[in-house]
Amino acid sequence: MALVNTKEMFKKAYDGGYAVGAFNVNNMEIVQGITEACMEQKSPVILQVSKGARSYANHTYLIKLVEAAVQECPEIPIALHLDHGDSFELCKSCIDGGFTSVMIDASSKPFEENIALTRKVVEYAHDHGVVVEAELGTLAGIEDEVNVSEEESSYTQASDVQEFVERTGCDSLAIAIGTSHGAFKFKPGTDPKLRFDILEDVASRLPGFPIVLHGSSSVPQEFVKMVNDFGGNMPGAIGIPEEQLRRAAQMAVCKINIDSDIRLAMTGNIRKYFAEHPDHFDPRQYLKPARQAVKDMVAHKIVNVLGSNNKI
Ligand code: G3H
Ligand code: 13P
Ligand code: ZN
Repeated sequence: MALVNTKEMFKKAYDGGYAVGAFNVNNMEIVQGITEACMEQKSPVILQVSKGARSYANHTYLIKLVEAAVQECPEIPIALHLDHGDSFELCKSCIDGGFTSVMIDASSKPFEENIALTRKVVEYAHDHGVVVEAELGTLAGIEDEVNVSEEESSYTQASDVQEFVERTGCDSLAIAIGTSHGAFKFKPGTDPKLRFDILEDVASRLPGFPIVLHGSSSVPQEFVKMVNDFGGNMPGAIGIPEEQLRRAAQMAVCKINIDSDIRLAMTGNIRKYFAEHPDHFDPRQYLKPARQAVKDMVAHKIVNVLGSNNKI
């Protein structure tokens, strides 16, 4: 199967009460870990690339890695998505360069500016068979080089979504209902709760329309412990409880973004490997368990959080 866009994926996910995982990719081991898990679980997948990933690994290398995954995993639908595109030029470059989906994240701009920029990207993307994710509302935490303080974070106003989607023509919408980027989403001792009332309100105003959740890592405590036990220092790292994401996936949420859990799985395992094998220096040795940990973590998400197994 060639790379696909997310139209068909989202329709099936919406109707089937599950979500498709969107995992950030930055290197070969991450691409392999994710796609091997998806192949074994017979799950569609979105591989997403941030501006930072593109400047770290280079557009061509990432495209070729994803093309290799498509060739190695011919049975599963794979979409290649730009995560948090912050300008028309970046979106255009990814559309021209082979991506099947882009996000224009103008959520920090005033409503009318968000609409105008999103509309411009949609027009170009649709002319090229590419779909567009937009965002309304602001997540707390770090959004690809933009640090949004918790105080400024604001939930999506459900009353805005219909006008926004109609005027922009976007294909999916990321909303803010209490998720946030990074590994420190909630203060220790607080009770993490997503705003399902907002999600329900949004869904009722946009029947059948795919909703996206960013900042949806669960920050598994086994990895946090592994990092801290083997020389790291990440006290109080807390994510979104998996049951809440599962519930969202059964509702209008069709795409769930996960990046921090990949970082934690790799970092925890690499730290452990170095601690246990201080004399080893072959990257293949320490990247192997890290890649396996990404694969196991993604398989767990597919079955227990997304519900996207056996959906191809
Ligand atoms: O939401 C942001 C993603 O986790 C990507 O992070 O900009 O460090 O690649 P990055
Ligand atoms: P996490 O930091 O929760 O993994 O969120 C990733 C994300 O939203 C990428 O766009
Ligand atoms: Zn994000």
